[in-house]
Amino acid sequence: MAPSAISPPYTPLPPNGKSLDTISDSIDALNLLKLQISRNAFHNEPTPSSTPQELSRKTSFSVGSEFTTVSSFDAEKDKSQFRQYDTPETPQSVIDEYTTQHKSQTVAYNLLQRNKFHFNKSARPVMTVWEAMEKLDKLIDPSDPDTNEGQIIHLLQTAEAMRRDGKPQWMQLVGLIHDLGKLLFFYGSAGTWDVVGDTFPVGCAFSDANILPHTFTANPDFNDPIYSTENGIYEPGCGIENIIMSWGHDEYLYLVMKDQSCIPREGLAMIRYHSFYPWHSKGAYRQFMKKGDEVLLEAVQAFNPYDLYSKSDEAPPSADELKPYYMTLINKFCPGPIQW
Ligand SMILES: [Fe+2]
Ligand SMILES: [Fe+2]
Repeated sequence: MAPSAISPPYTPLPPNGKSLDTISDSIDALNLLKLQISRNAFHNEPTPSSTPQELSRKTSFSVGSEFTTVSSFDAEKDKSQFRQYDTPETPQSVIDEYTTQHKSQTVAYNLLQRNKFHFNKSARPVMTVWEAMEKLDKLIDPSDPDTNEGQIIHLLQTAEAMRRDGKPQWMQLVGLIHDLGKLLFFYGSAGTWDVVGDTFPVGCAFSDANILPHTFTANPDFNDPIYSTENGIYEPGCGIENIIMSWGHDEYLYLVMKDQSCIPREGLAMIRYHSFYPWHSKGAYRQFMKKGDEVLLEAVQAFNPYDLYSKSDEAPPSADELKPYYMTLINKFCPGPIQW
């Protein structure tokens, strides 16, 4: 369906919308300036006149290759106990969550959410990263059978496991923020099904490598003459970054951070694809990768154990205790305020 055919119901701007947009644009400009200053202090380089995207790519070139793909913290863990989605013990709430998600994530819905994100900017809140973490702590992920903890503990567990394994600072920062896209839950989501859960491309056939794949039959795109074909609207080799991912916290945070941080490209891939299990862990959808995308796959696979297996770690020190350390990383890679 063409974007114009879905007639997104934009929320009209309030009477003072123009002034809000002006403030919003000023904040963008200020954030960019802060990024440049922060990056120059970090690399001791003169101020470049770069777009945020260029800045991100350059930073990737200089620091993105420092991580190793080996994790040590999880050596003793029984990994068979994680991600059990189709067993008698799987909570019905998790099955219901995925049934709704798979029925509802269509191309049309996806384009609608992207339009809202890009064209209703002034409705999005402005907060620092730490404020966002505190806000998110009120949410428990209903799609996750492996944890009942508040989100701030999961974020700190992920980052602390990376820190113990000696991963670079930018990767620890990614661990700390990787689920902040779940703020969508508070800002305009239709439920939890368009915020959390594994992700997959829309616009092409749903792979059987997705969990509970039989539940996709209720999706209107399942029988679409184009979307139901193996490659759908894409060309093989088009590049993994050029396929449209289902709408949720991964894609949302990626869109937020790609323009408002200097996280390297590998780190942005960790954010964008960390729930894309059929791709990074099951080998599906690989026909869309182009030469060079292996680096992104490797980065996401290096990230995954920390997201998944740190959930059974002991509770980390309190957020107050860890805050000074992580604020140095936040100030280095995504100084606030951020428009979410
Ligand atoms: Fe996540
Ligand atoms: Fe996570």
